[in-house]
Amino acid sequence: MSTEYVLIEQSSPLKGTVSLTGAKNAVSPIMASLLLTSGKNKLTNVPFSDDVRLMIKLLESLGAEVKADESLHTLEIDTSHIKSQSIGPDIMKKMRASILVMGPLLARFGFVEVALPGGCVLGARPIDYHLKAFAKMGVKIEAKGEYLTASAQKMHPTHCVLEYPSVGATENIMMAAVLTPGTTRITNAAFEPEVLDLIEVLKKMGAHIATFPPATIEIEGVTTLQPVEHHIMYDRLEAGSLLLAAAITGGEIHLPEAPAASMDVFLAKLEEMGHQLSYGDKGTGVALKATDSPKAVSFRTMPYPGFPTDLQAPMMAALCLASGKSFVDETVFENRLMHVRELQKMGAQIEMHGHTATIMGVDKLFGAAVIAPDIRASCALILAGLVAEGQTTMTGTHHLKRGYAGLLEKLQALGGKAQLLHE
Ligand code: EPZ
Repeated sequence: MSTEYVLIEQSSPLKGTVSLTGAKNAVSPIMASLLLTSGKNKLTNVPFSDDVRLMIKLLESLGAEVKADESLHTLEIDTSHIKSQSIGPDIMKKMRASILVMGPLLARFGFVEVALPGGCVLGARPIDYHLKAFAKMGVKIEAKGEYLTASAQKMHPTHCVLEYPSVGATENIMMAAVLTPGTTRITNAAFEPEVLDLIEVLKKMGAHIATFPPATIEIEGVTTLQPVEHHIMYDRLEAGSLLLAAAITGGEIHLPEAPAASMDVFLAKLEEMGHQLSYGDKGTGVALKATDSPKAVSFRTMPYPGFPTDLQAPMMAALCLASGKSFVDETVFENRLMHVRELQKMGAQIEMHGHTATIMGVDKLFGAAVIAPDIRASCALILAGLVAEGQTTMTGTHHLKRGYAGLLEKLQALGGKAQLLHE
């Protein structure tokens, strides 16, 4: 069987203007939410990553009719004839976002059967917060082998307090509550921009949702929800990755659609490194001119609006070449530093203490054969390869294709030498 890999070569400073695609972590829950409606929905600015293609397969397996136009980045999804509420392991194991169909199917049909989810191996990644909240809403949950069945004669509203502002749990509970009569409240909810994009879609459907401090979302259940049209928000994580590609290679980049207003902590860290940033008006658009002597910075990943865990790996790649010592503390996932080992193969000086990495900046990295352990690590290794001396080959390309739509093509357009090849 031929091996697919990304060949990355030392590149000159990346320069240019690039457009962004829709956010992977917004489109997944939004596609799941369409199960709450019965009719023709249309999504635009859709990023056609493998996760989206898998979500299409999942919806079709339930009876949805999907028309995808990858060149126009649109999806038409007709949910008038949903005939199944059961998702098997073949789909569930490949993508964590598939768990997000539980809330909508429970809300609309009172029943759902799912195999336990998969996705990036970033630690245990349980779904206890989701299940605890469903149980409080009157859902009976049974584990049968590797399947979970959840059923409810009649769901009732609840006040659920999340012990951690889980993105997926917030989204799943919200989607279960929008058709549950009465007032459901989620305290310590996640307020990531992608959660807010989902709230906008649910409101367009006719849901009654209010948000207020402290990190509370209140849902007033309604009886039916209407099909929608929605333009998926631009991807702040793709934007961050592209900014770092220019930063690490000493280049210049302009992202006119970047949602800079939702990237403050990350952008402040780029400025702290010495990179020059300029911003469009109304919080949209950012340009970066890289410094040729980046300084070490430290950060810890936090729920929004803290430093996003999904930019931790790409940022660490840039810190490998910053002068001084950087401390990176991954607090969101207990096993999201697997890229350290791979960066060390390229000559990075990194020490690990628990979930904290200490990065001592070096003058150069060296091309190596590396393996991507998860989506964001795949981006980090490509960025490192763009500046490393010699050639880097990266396997584990399925992670890259799951999380990014067209990243290699965008890097090529900026002068980056990174291409997908088969042995
Ligand atoms: C979403 O994952 C994103 N995925 C992740 O992006 C992102 O890193 C994460 O949120 C944090 O921002 C999608 O939106 C599809 P969580 P999710 O529930 O919902 C623990 C990427 O690379 N937890 O906020 O799974 C969990 O183990 C991906 O784009 C429980 O303990 O994240 C983790 O330690 C990776 N019990 C922490 O909470 C639960 O029931 C945060 O998880 C749920 C979560």
